[in-house]
Amino acid sequence: MCYFKINNRRYTGSKFKLLNWIKSTIEDEAKKNDSFCDLFAGTGCVAEKFTDKKKLIINDLLFSNNIIYKAFFDSKNFNKKKIIEISKKYKALNLKKIPSNYFDKNFGGKFFSLNDAKLIGFLRDKIDNENCNNNEKNILLTSLLYSADKSANTVGHYDAFRKKIKIKDKFMFKLIEPIKHTSKIQIFREDANELVKKIKFDICYIDPPYNSRQYSRFYHVLENLVQWKKPKLFGEALKPEPENMSEYCKTKAPEKFQELITNINSNYIVVSYNNTYKSKSSSSKNKITLDQILSTMKKKGRTKIFKKSHNYFNAGKTNFDNHYEYLFITKI
Ligand SMILES: C[S@@+](CC[C@H](N)C(=O)[O-])C[C@H]1O[C@@H](n2cnc3c(N)ncnc32)[C@H](O)[C@@H]1O
Repeated sequence: MCYFKINNRRYTGSKFKLLNWIKSTIEDEAKKNDSFCDLFAGTGCVAEKFTDKKKLIINDLLFSNNIIYKAFFDSKNFNKKKIIEISKKYKALNLKKIPSNYFDKNFGGKFFSLNDAKLIGFLRDKIDNENCNNNEKNILLTSLLYSADKSANTVGHYDAFRKKIKIKDKFMFKLIEPIKHTSKIQIFREDANELVKKIKFDICYIDPPYNSRQYSRFYHVLENLVQWKKPKLFGEALKPEPENMSEYCKTKAPEKFQELITNINSNYIVVSYNNTYKSKSSSSKNKITLDQILSTMKKKGRTKIFKKSHNYFNAGKTNFDNHYEYLFITKI
């Protein structure tokens, strides 16, 4: 049987391809540190790379990311046989007997084929009504998110769907595989600036958004599917009313960053950064400059910069020449 791994999704700004470099650079600087916090965790792939630590703290503002972390990192109590049986039942569903629902009425023929959207909405309701514990429901819901994302008619996010093509039926329900590890896990869905006032860790890894593209807007379809409040949707991209907007995507970002760094209680702070701020598209321009990061971190402690040339994945038209990925490491 084939399962989804945590990195099997498309996510803007995912550090998946840089994991070995990030891991070895951090380990060289801060080897004997037991707890690792991934404060803006996105896909969670950086946190996964640090499951050799005794304690992992994983945080992100999005509901869809939060459920993914719970399913992959914190599924201690689930019956694998039962989950497999349920997934077989889902695969054998007869489309003709499935009633039209919120999901296909809104997204059918747009972000998904009509049949795929109908199935996704139907399964979402079904998962709520399964006789399962929380761990099992988290696994089923995360499996639905990954399966839906794989069949979406997008370029990797939900700001727009591809027009002028006939959308094929692609959806196939496939299970995720929870990560085997021995770390103690804490998962949060909080504003990073508030969270760091409350907890302490040895290494704090920071990878915030650096431009005006709000993740809650980019991934609104997944947010909608997880929360399942069936809100009224607006515009061509069928987004709900704005929620969960990040201050890091606004002009106040440099102040927020400064406040964050000031309040962190750890031995090391590691910040990921890339130089897309020179890009020609205004939505891709960085809100915080490299100099602002450097001066903020130098105030906190001894700071080193590491740099790597990297071909950035970009779904849009923006052209990133001479793209560099940076890691700032501050010893407090
Ligand atoms: C660049 S992505 C992180 C990518 C991640 N390192 C990975 O490899 O997948 C930035 C993340 O920060 C989250 N975010 C934005 N503002 C936040 C805030 N104030 N507090 C916590 N998370 C936030 C977004 O939802 C997004 O997932």
